[in-house]
Amino acid sequence: MPTALVIGASRGIGLEFVRQYKAAGWRVIATARKAEDVAQLQALGCEAHAMDVTQLNDCAALGWQLDDEKLDVAILNAGVIGERSSGLQAPEQSLFDSTMQTNVLAAMRILPILLPLVDAAQGKLAVLSSRMGSIGLRESNASWLYRASKAAVNSVLKDVSLSAEKAVCVAFHPGWVRTDMGGANADLSPEQSVAGMRASLARFTRDDNGQFFNYDGAKLSW
Ligand SMILES: NC(=O)c1ccc[n+]([C@@H]2O[C@H](COP(=O)([O-])OP(=O)(O)OC[C@H]3O[C@@H](n4cnc5c(N)ncnc54)[C@H](OP(=O)(O)O)[C@@H]3O)[C@@H](O)[C@H]2O)c1
Repeated sequence: MPTALVIGASRGIGLEFVRQYKAAGWRVIATARKAEDVAQLQALGCEAHAMDVTQLNDCAALGWQLDDEKLDVAILNAGVIGERSSGLQAPEQSLFDSTMQTNVLAAMRILPILLPLVDAAQGKLAVLSSRMGSIGLRESNASWLYRASKAAVNSVLKDVSLSAEKAVCVAFHPGWVRTDMGGANADLSPEQSVAGMRASLARFTRDDNGQFFNYDGAKLSW
């Protein structure tokens, strides 16, 4: 039975990854930061751990909890929008810090822990990024703090991919998805977005290591 890990699985896209991998018969390990969300994941049949990705101790604990695991798929999904801005207002220091800690520093702590476990399974390691982080595709500066954080995590993912021996490491744009973050008017349901990313992950080969993809597997410019 293959194993998937989903980090940040309390709701939205992360929870949908859990549901779909469970429905496909996978063993699923999942994390959430609130006790009630950990309980929800256990009720879905997951091995669930409490984890706030901004907490160094929680990241270290994850390493212990996953000792000797082989992960066929590992997904770093947890993320925050930070602030919905238009124009070039400098963010508050505290908002900058919390957004970058969640979207970037957490990846720099967690991905090095996950990479050997995904390498061991010749598996797939994915970060939920955003097309808003692409510099090549940039046509707006709305929410520039979020854009900067996703551009930075793209850089982190690329660096991780350069240390991958057998894993395939990718960044995903999930589409514009109807979640708390995406809002009710977004294009895609979580079911559609996650089905697309799962199918893409299943198709990817080592040639795809270190690339940025749309949810449907189309290649995106960094
Ligand atoms: N929805 C879209 O249209 C869209 C588009 C592009 C990219 N994305 C990216 O896709 C990912 C998932 O987005 P979503 O739409 O599902 O967002 P969402 O509905 O706002 O859910 C965000 C998830 O991240 C978790 N999270 C946030 N901070 C965390 C922390 N410090 N520790 C642990 N978990 C934390 C949340 O947990 P809590 O419930 O505990 O807060 C929640 O599970 C994000 O990385 C987002 O940037 C989304």
